[in-house]
Amino acid sequence: MRVLAIASQKGGVGKTATTVNLAAGLALMGSRVVVVDLDPQAQASKALGIRLEGGTIQNSLGFALQAAVQSVPTDLRRYVMDRSEILTKWGAEGTLMLLASEDATMSNAQHLLHTAGPDKATLLRGLLTQLADDLDFAVIDTPPSVGALPAQALAASDYAIGLCSHEYQTLEGAVAMKATLRYVTQRTGGAADPLYLGAVLNKCNPVSKWKRQEVDVRNGMVEAGLLPLISEIRADDRISGSYASQAPAVIQFGNHEPGKRYAALLQELFVRMDTPEAEWEIAPTADAQLAALETRREKAVISV
Ligand SMILES: Nc1ncnc2c1ncn2[C@@H]1O[C@H](COP(=O)(O)OP(=O)(O)O)[C@@H](O)[C@H]1O
Ligand SMILES: [Mg+2]
Repeated sequence: MRVLAIASQKGGVGKTATTVNLAAGLALMGSRVVVVDLDPQAQASKALGIRLEGGTIQNSLGFALQAAVQSVPTDLRRYVMDRSEILTKWGAEGTLMLLASEDATMSNAQHLLHTAGPDKATLLRGLLTQLADDLDFAVIDTPPSVGALPAQALAASDYAIGLCSHEYQTLEGAVAMKATLRYVTQRTGGAADPLYLGAVLNKCNPVSKWKRQEVDVRNGMVEAGLLPLISEIRADDRISGSYASQAPAVIQFGNHEPGKRYAALLQELFVRMDTPEAEWEIAPTADAQLAALETRREKAVISV
């Protein structure tokens, strides 16, 4: 099983939207996938139609983490919920599982983890290995903070993906996440060595609609060494709107722009997983893209 974390310390960049869409995209391609919701706000769970309350709170991943941190033997498989019906409902097939979150239980787990010793750094990693034989991918949604839960996510991961959106402040969160990655190996005594796969630009616009901030973010992503992916995700109401219908946009709009863009992103991520960083194709800066556009326009004028 390959474990991917979607992380950034900034909220609202699209971690949850990216997590559920990449996970559902992988499921549509035939992989057996689990979404791991590590955010107490439980948005990924809600996006997949699960809201834990009352008696169902005992199904929260937060509960499993609490037990495990207190060294209670924990069978993670008991917490996995099958959400494949979301695919069938939209006429698709696949295996899409969920480890759901809930506010109180996950916050409590976070607190316990925060005070736990370094021997607990790979707690989630250990738990996820219980699913390794049954699933191909785990995609982890992380909370927008620096703390015990994102640290668990990165320590459990084979790959980490950063995120920026069209707003300049989002750069900082992506840079901080990449910097944190360096310490994961050290903190876990070498048990974890997640590979940074690059940063995705989310909620972006076609070049005709670029404003100053988007130009600055695009330039900044390259200049800060975030290794931006060529495949970007446009601002699209079908992506935000899909929360209400509890089926990720890739499922509902598989043959439309959102589906195609997430599919292209997955293909690019697969290439990066299998080739050395020196060979990765990096998205150009906005300045380079605008200059190339200008040159093409000039050539077109001359040939007319
Ligand atoms: N590409 C997109 N186009 C339009 N809306 C988006 C897109 N990505 C995310 N959103 C919306 O932006 C808001 C924040 O996204 P979310 O994934 O919850 O961010 P995070 O998990 O990083 O806090 C949500 O309302 C979500 O639906
Ligand atoms: Mg989120």
